Amino acid sequence: MKFGKSASSGVVRQENSTTPGVNAVEVTDLVKTFDSGKIRALDGVSFKVPKGQLLVIIGLSGSGKSTLLRHLNGLHLPTEGSAIVLDENVSSLSRKELRSLRRDVGFVFQQFNIVGRLTCIENVLSGALGRIWGPRISALMYSKSMRSEAIEQLERVGLADKAWQRTDTLSGGEQQRVAIARTLMQKPQIVLADEPVASLDPEISGQVMDLLVQCCIEDGITVLCSLHQVDLALGWANRLIGLRAGKIVLDTPVDESLSQEDVMVVYQQLDPEGTKTSEYLDTSETSSP
Ligand SMILES: Nc1ncnc2c1ncn2[C@@H]1O[C@H](COP(=O)(O)OP(=O)(O)O)[C@@H](O)[C@H]1O
Ligand SMILES: [Mg+2]
Repeated sequence: MKFGKSASSGVVRQENSTTPGVNAVEVTDLVKTFDSGKIRALDGVSFKVPKGQLLVIIGLSGSGKSTLLRHLNGLHLPTEGSAIVLDENVSSLSRKELRSLRRDVGFVFQQFNIVGRLTCIENVLSGALGRIWGPRISALMYSKSMRSEAIEQLERVGLADKAWQRTDTLSGGEQQRVAIARTLMQKPQIVLADEPVASLDPEISGQVMDLLVQCCIEDGITVLCSLHQVDLALGWANRLIGLRAGKIVLDTPVDESLSQEDVMVVYQQLDPEGTKTSEYLDTSETSSP
């Protein structure tokens, strides 16, 4: 095993300082149950994410990825344990404080969550709503400088020429790029992305993931991204966490010595024969440069 992972669990605890401002996220002994305790979606999860880290969370469907991410912007509250985000304990925030935290924490969804009947620029501008007062119904109700900022964000995702087009006329990959531009417009410190490319073709998935990561690196944003497919993560993540049945079973830095086989430990106990692991790997011979 690489990285000196403990032989029993493969889990390495990253010990970061608890000095305020160092970590973007600190999750401690997080337990989340549903249905009066019958479902244990998260079962004692602890980890810290230093600011600027690009973290990928992998795991089978149902392993708890979405539940974990939803605790980091207050969409779920812990049954036990705590989630501290940008030095705020999410459970103890008032509505107003939570709204303020959510301005700093962007969310990119699998299903894009854009408004199809609006133009691309209107969707992107809506990302700035947390920064300004009062409702805005159309793009013309935003200041000129906001509009040029929105065009700049669309430029970054290669869609400036489609700014005034209805968003539902775009392809899935383009719609997700609009959603990314909207998130960047929000100027978040953290981006949570929940399987952001799961609805896209494999080739498009790689392009959209590259764009998301590149923009976040440029803006110094901390990224926590859940992904179903391991190969998509290995190219850019700094660190990888594997969840299985609500527990962390792998926590490792990502570098050239980390192989896909190392990562398969996340899936193996459910599939000891390894017969289904190909679903999570790009086993084709063509490797990216
Ligand atoms: N709102 C909910 N009510 C009941 N069970 C839920 C709810 N949300 C998630 N779960 C259950 O929690 C477990 C983890 O789900 P989820 O976090 O969505 O996994 P993943 O995102 O890895 O597919 C699953 O067993 C799921 O059915
Ligand atoms: Mg999910």
